[in-house]
Amino acid sequence: SLVYLNGEYLPLSQAKISVLDRGFIFGDGIYEVVPAYNRKPFRLNEHVARLERSLKAIKLETGKTTQDWIQLMTDMVNKAETDDTFVYLQVTRGVAKRDHAYPNPPVAPTIFLMSSPFVRPSEELRTKGFRVVSMPDERWYHCDIKSVSLLGNILAKEYAHAKGVDDVIQFRDGFMTEASSANIWVVKNGTLLAPLKNNLILEGIRYGLMEKLAAQCGIPFVAQNISEEQVAQADELLFTSATKEVLPILEYNGQPVGQGVAGPIYQKLRAAYDLEIE
Ligand code: PDD
Repeated sequence: SLVYLNGEYLPLSQAKISVLDRGFIFGDGIYEVVPAYNRKPFRLNEHVARLERSLKAIKLETGKTTQDWIQLMTDMVNKAETDDTFVYLQVTRGVAKRDHAYPNPPVAPTIFLMSSPFVRPSEELRTKGFRVVSMPDERWYHCDIKSVSLLGNILAKEYAHAKGVDDVIQFRDGFMTEASSANIWVVKNGTLLAPLKNNLILEGIRYGLMEKLAAQCGIPFVAQNISEEQVAQADELLFTSATKEVLPILEYNGQPVGQGVAGPIYQKLRAAYDLEIE
């Protein structure tokens, strides 16, 4: 299928950028991952709003309007090979002589979109759940920006794989932040606990969605600092991202979470999530 690069649609193999692109040289750019079901982008307005927040946070001007982004994403979904797809969008500060300072005057940003087939989490995975381990959050203090500088996230994922598990739950100063590329939720006594929305986590598009679904299902929702002990003693742990939707975490640091099977709050939120997709 075709990809979009700087105003053109072309085959992936023909999409080329300069080695001086600041995305390549510095990781100076931001990205989005938008799922689409049956050629309908899911939560598109929210993804575009976050994209614009990220661009603004790093003072990257593109000249594109909200409507332009919506159009680009929608076109990419329509050009995709499969009906269920996810769109990857990346914007970098463009091509310039290597210098940490922003190019002055600014140069044209590099804008890239591609689609990939989206294989939704299988029934088997939903039953088996994820296994995770804890680790210190060693990333920077702007995790709220969806930056392409992802070395910290990659090291976290690799740490999990070295331990033979699926992912990590990171802690900063004793409080839970998030997984390597997903948000984490704690269920205790029927209440859904979320970490505070601040600069230490990426506010997933599923953050607001889970809050809404919890309200729909009559599940109390509380955002607060969550300690290592609260995670270790959770009745349920949940994992959310664009590509994993919502999954139960059934093993934490080698111990079963709750009864070691997907719990009732997960089941309710999972069902409500699926209904959003219809
Ligand atoms: N990751 N936290 C981090 C660090 C993430 O990278 C992501 C998403 C999330 C969840 O956000 P959302 O619900 O909007 O997907 C939380 C994407 C999927 C990725 O990097 O591929």
